[in-house]
Amino acid sequence: MTRRLILDTDTAQDDCVALLVALLDSRASLEAITMVAGNVGFDRQVHNAFLTLAATGHLGEVPVHLGCERPLVREWVSAENVHGDGVGGMSIDLGDCGPEAEHGVDALIRIVNDNPGEIDIVAIGPLTNVAMAAVKDADFAKNVRSLVIMGGSNNGRGNITAAAEFNFYVDPEAAATVFAAGFDITVVPWAPLTLNDAVFGADRLEQIATIDTPLARFFMKVCAATLEFDEAVGIPGTTHPDSLSVAVLLDPELVIAAADYNVQIETGSELTRGYSAMSWGVHDLEPNARVIEAVDGQAFFDLICSILSTEVSPQRAIAGLQ
Ligand code: RIB
Ligand code: CA
Repeated sequence: MTRRLILDTDTAQDDCVALLVALLDSRASLEAITMVAGNVGFDRQVHNAFLTLAATGHLGEVPVHLGCERPLVREWVSAENVHGDGVGGMSIDLGDCGPEAEHGVDALIRIVNDNPGEIDIVAIGPLTNVAMAAVKDADFAKNVRSLVIMGGSNNGRGNITAAAEFNFYVDPEAAATVFAAGFDITVVPWAPLTLNDAVFGADRLEQIATIDTPLARFFMKVCAATLEFDEAVGIPGTTHPDSLSVAVLLDPELVIAAADYNVQIETGSELTRGYSAMSWGVHDLEPNARVIEAVDGQAFFDLICSILSTEVSPQRAIAGLQ
């Protein structure tokens, strides 16, 4: 079954890997990429998206739309300390390539409302664009086939603070709006899921290095900066919640355990802003999301390896990629 999807992304590191999956997995039809303020500088994110498109030979085939360049209410918070520039220093001369004129929020609304019930959205950055679309168009949420959100933690540790995961921390008001908007939501949380089942340690990184294709080398480059940060904070490898979010949409068999939860986002407290309160059904709260609790980590790793093994011809020279 081919999934027609839009990737809403703050393109850095694993966002680029998620883009590889969305571009190269035969079960995906990537309709558009919408950019949202998150990991690194907005223009850098846009460059990273086009660089990834070029690395797969798909430059010019998927429209890229610029979305919200800052959160709904708060100032943008960077994760450049984690990701560096997001692509390990690789660069590309975009030449005549550039984003569409249509704003990302308008593109989300147009594509979804022109194809009611057919478009999945995979949101792997702060939820600013998705929230804006839900507020701007009353039919948007019900016309989205499903919304996969990488964000939050399921009664577990945060990453940018003890309480909050980065995507929900950057724009907690947007996250709160999205969880109240009536989408059919699946959540891929940071903890415990990503830390348990989507970290590639030294052995797996060695396996990827031996694939020795342009995309395997691309992977190693985009993940290098984040690996250094992860190991510095006690995570024994590279983290892949974004690419897992695309993977579980395309291959639901990857999911070993999931349950219905009521998810609410803290927006009032500075200490716990962005905290995701995930109630597991015993607090008399109406469920509003399905939260994934466990996936087959080996099968997920095998899927990434198959993507990285794809023989592609980069469309233009990528400086820093041998
Ligand atoms: O907390 C992890 C999430 O924040 C990932 O989507 C990563 O790309 C950053 O956006
Ligand atoms: Ca991301």
